[in-house]
Amino acid sequence: MKIDFQGKIALVTGGTKGIGRQVAEDLLSLGADVYVTGTSSLPPVDLPVGNERYLAVDFTDRNKTERFFEVVAKMDRIDVCINNAGINRINPIDETLIEDWDDISAVNLDAPFMMVRCVSKIMKANNYGRIINVSSVFGVISKAWRVLYSMSKFGLRGLTVSSAIDLAPFNILVNSVSPGFVVTELTQRILGSAEMERMAAELPIGRFAQPEEISRSILFLASDLNTYITGHNLIIDGGFVNV
Ligand SMILES: NC(=O)c1ccc[n+]([C@@H]2O[C@H](COP(=O)([O-])OP(=O)(O)OC[C@H]3O[C@@H](n4cnc5c(N)ncnc54)[C@H](OP(=O)(O)O)[C@@H]3O)[C@@H](O)[C@H]2O)c1
Repeated sequence: MKIDFQGKIALVTGGTKGIGRQVAEDLLSLGADVYVTGTSSLPPVDLPVGNERYLAVDFTDRNKTERFFEVVAKMDRIDVCINNAGINRINPIDETLIEDWDDISAVNLDAPFMMVRCVSKIMKANNYGRIINVSSVFGVISKAWRVLYSMSKFGLRGLTVSSAIDLAPFNILVNSVSPGFVVTELTQRILGSAEMERMAAELPIGRFAQPEEISRSILFLASDLNTYITGHNLIIDGGFVNV
């Protein structure tokens, strides 16, 4: 048994760094043609590599987002779509800002919704599709100061479950993954090194995940090895939510 993406066309949002970068590189190494998105108007210097193309979009900008989806809608084929781009801003509920919710909901929830709506038309025409929404353990449980992030990620669960039902008859499987704590820029920015060390000691597995440990699970769900799992949320957290 082998995971193979030869001949597949994949789209990974937020494919410039962190989990998304790892997924894009793994898809490329397994033979896929990969479109990645990032926010800067020009591709970062080390991108694109091999059979990779870069698309610029900032999902907090509705005009740019709509133009981006006009481009995606013209594609003939997308076999694999990874809704990975995500942001987080933390605050206690009574100090949350509506501007933060505007941005978080635009990136973490509106963009995946618009993406599933758009690519499912293309996937239906080809009777094939694998969509993975990158959620979080804070889309299953929550924690102090995570209200906006959790609101967006719990919403993503609704998108996953409902669209999985609509799209199953067309051989389009929609799943989500919920990583716990992963060593990326986002984690570094939100937690900082001292808190990362303190929290790692509290995890049953005793450490944070590396992006490749999340990517492997995403790739399985996105591959031809997955023929029957849909609407599922796979928690990848080193045992965190069980404590
Ligand atoms: N890290 C964790 O511990 C963890 C845990 C659970 C879930 N997650 C989820 O995993 C996903 C990836 O997280 P990460 O830690 O890998 O994040 P990251 O290292 O901060 O990378 C975020 C990616 O999203 C893109 N992005 C940021 N703002 C955007 C915007 N306004 N519009 C469009 N794209 C935007 C970035 O593009 P540019 O670089 O071009 O700006 C980048 O490629 C997110 O959905 C996050 O919620 C992460």
